[in-house]
Amino acid sequence: LISGLMASTTIAAGAADMTVGFSQIGSESGWRAAETSLTKSQAEERGIDLKFADAQQKQENQIKAVRSFIAQGVDAILIAPVVATGWEGVLEEAKDAEIPVVLLDRQIDAPEDLYLTAVTSDQVHEGKVAGEWLVKDVGDAECNVVELQGTTGSSPAINRKQGFEEAIAGHDNIKIIRSQTGDFTRTKGKEVMESFIKAEDGGKNICALYAHNDDMAVGAIQAIKEAGLKPGTDIKVVSIDAVPDIFQAMAAGEANATVELTPNMAGPAFDALEKYKADGTEPPKWIQTESKLYTQADDPMKVYEEKKGLGY
Ligand code: AHR
Repeated sequence: LISGLMASTTIAAGAADMTVGFSQIGSESGWRAAETSLTKSQAEERGIDLKFADAQQKQENQIKAVRSFIAQGVDAILIAPVVATGWEGVLEEAKDAEIPVVLLDRQIDAPEDLYLTAVTSDQVHEGKVAGEWLVKDVGDAECNVVELQGTTGSSPAINRKQGFEEAIAGHDNIKIIRSQTGDFTRTKGKEVMESFIKAEDGGKNICALYAHNDDMAVGAIQAIKEAGLKPGTDIKVVSIDAVPDIFQAMAAGEANATVELTPNMAGPAFDALEKYKADGTEPPKWIQTESKLYTQADDPMKVYEEKKGLGY
């Protein structure tokens, strides 16, 4: 009992002593705003001094923030990397300064020894779950899909595209007829959907929208309505994140399915850092979060109420 108590005291002391820098991408989506608020509240609960930097969607700002965290001598750094490439240099600098780095919600193309762990979903799987839902829903009917991609060069945009394509491969009745980035935002999601509708006979040639996040889907739903069509019926809507607003849209019959991504990436990240700081325990290189499918059959308003309390 005594040694158990001592162990937990050591871990708690490690957490309370920690100063952690967090380079966040920005606030392009409801999901990202929730991730930020949960990271701040998780840090507060654990007595971690969190230094927060909003990069306004720019990798160069993230690199500057990480350099400034290194100069301040923080104990650890969290990075939600806006794009997948271009991280080696600054991660080498963190490694030289012996500051562990944890990646949040997006992966990078860099050697694994440059970071302690990555807390992310399996983004290829998320795309697959979305695609498999559509395959099942349309059956043998012909279905032209338009796709709203996330930020160009980001791991979720690359992987969610790949997963969806894998799911529909071999189903020749389902075709992606247009695909463009909407940068994970509602505004661009709406704009790009308007252009898809215009180009596809006022939307009559479109059977389904696949959006790499819910915010773009919500913007697109507005565009579909403004074009005089019924989202969820005339054009099926499947997306990823499970933010509260998509459940409202599902309850109204205007969205069909979403794949959940937890905004609580910081919880597992801080757990891993606390253990690492306490006794050097190395976490696995990938801490994978779950990806659950929700449809209109899942009592969307109940889920909406539950979600509202969870950082949103
Ligand atoms: O990296 C996770 C993605 O980034 C979320 O799906 C999206 O909403 C966010 O901006």
